[in-house]
Amino acid sequence: MDTELSLADVARLEDVVDRAALAEVCRSFFELFSLPVRVFSRDGTLLSDVHEEQAICRYVNGFAPGRAACSALVGEVRALDPEGGPVEHPCFTGACYRVVPIHYQGRRLGRFVVGPYMPAERREVPRSLLVLDDRIDPRAARDALGEMPRVRQETIERITEHLRRVLDLILFSGHRAYLTSQMHVASVRESYRELTEKTQRLQEAYDRLKELDRLKSNFLATVSHELRTPLTSIIGYSDMLASGIAGELNGEQQEFVETIRSKGDHLLALITSLLDLNKLEQGNLPLRREPVAPSALIDDLAKTVLPQAQKKGVKVEVDVQGARDPMPLDPVRIKQVLFNLAENAIKFTPKGGSVRFGVRATEMVDGADDEGALGLVLMAAPRRAVEFWISDSGIGIPSSEHQKIFDAFYQVDGSSTREHGGTGLGLSIVKRLVDAHGGRVWVESKPGEGATFRVAIPEPDELA
Ligand SMILES: Nc1ncnc2c1ncn2[C@@H]1O[C@H](COP(=O)(O)OP(=O)(O)OP(=O)(O)O)[C@@H](O)[C@H]1O
Ligand SMILES: [Mg+2]
Repeated sequence: MDTELSLADVARLEDVVDRAALAEVCRSFFELFSLPVRVFSRDGTLLSDVHEEQAICRYVNGFAPGRAACSALVGEVRALDPEGGPVEHPCFTGACYRVVPIHYQGRRLGRFVVGPYMPAERREVPRSLLVLDDRIDPRAARDALGEMPRVRQETIERITEHLRRVLDLILFSGHRAYLTSQMHVASVRESYRELTEKTQRLQEAYDRLKELDRLKSNFLATVSHELRTPLTSIIGYSDMLASGIAGELNGEQQEFVETIRSKGDHLLALITSLLDLNKLEQGNLPLRREPVAPSALIDDLAKTVLPQAQKKGVKVEVDVQGARDPMPLDPVRIKQVLFNLAENAIKFTPKGGSVRFGVRATEMVDGADDEGALGLVLMAAPRRAVEFWISDSGIGIPSSEHQKIFDAFYQVDGSSTREHGGTGLGLSIVKRLVDAHGGRVWVESKPGEGATFRVAIPEPDELA
């Protein structure tokens, strides 16, 4: 529908005018002046009609030629559609109809007809009535005509003009209500259209992002895989060179080969991380659970990172409270989690600082993080769990970053002049591995006050 056009213009009387108000106006007009009135739309539809049958009409309709003449006359009056001003149409009975056009905003929207009425100056029964049928009795006709309302010309002009103005008012207020409702409909429709468009744009953007994400993952997987093979050769050959298989190396040569080797190791670790992350994202890194004492994992971790910490001048303390009962975990993956966290702790702690690891037995309730699942949380039985923690006295992390650091490639100080190395992958791998165990990882930290990372892992749900 063309809303703009119908908003600006009124094309049809029946769209705008309030039928009840129109009927009320016609009825009071009739009660006041005893003059029949009918309102027609532009195409001739009768919109309102208040009349009483006149005595003369009843009389004339008693004769067949009278009936024919009467209906012909009614047809003529109905067909009248005056363009300029009001017109009068005489009836063969001597009565008269006045047809007044209804205009609004320069358009002809319809007309109203007042009559029949008897012009006040007419006194005799006209010949046009008597010639219709021999049986018409002039005296009876005169009596019947006498019952018809008599109106002087200037009076009929005045009262029809008055009625025209009242109709104009009804049209105006009807038009206003019509406009308001059309505007409301238009604005609702517009909001709906905008919403639909936005939803569609969002959907398209989402689809594009998903596709990009898929391409990125494939790219990462392929590139990492292809890089790994030549890298293994580089590491292998530098190993052989360093061990003197290809002849003795002098001090400087030895040093260069060592650098090639250690950078190669670093690169390999990075590529392995990328591959891991990719597999985790695709959900195809299966866990190999076996019963392990969580306390043993922490002892093992301390041994692994001790040389690194000593080299940096950072103290290591271990605090194991229970958690010695075996629990089904993937030891390789949990070690990876703890190692990534410990590596960060040492990296972000200046010389002279300290790092503490620990583990304790605890309990976990399913969905405890999920605000919407409050009811379920109350009903769920807590599960046996362990909580590992890795604490440091290092630079700390502002609370606004506590969530973001778990995103891939995110680093708090992302500048190129960054003091600490790394790629920003460690924590994203941690998060995914912990998720895969059905656990939870979070950080407690303030800038300058060190950081504590906690990892809670529940016992696997037997029913799941
Ligand atoms: N113990 C910590 N103290 C202070 N900041 C930390 C700590 N652990 C992590 N961060 C911040 O979180 C960021 C993300 O850590 P993440 O382990 O994911 O990346 P990375 O250590 O920079 O690089 P990668 O682990 O890939 O070598 C770090 O760059 C650092 O800004
Ligand atoms: Mg890291």
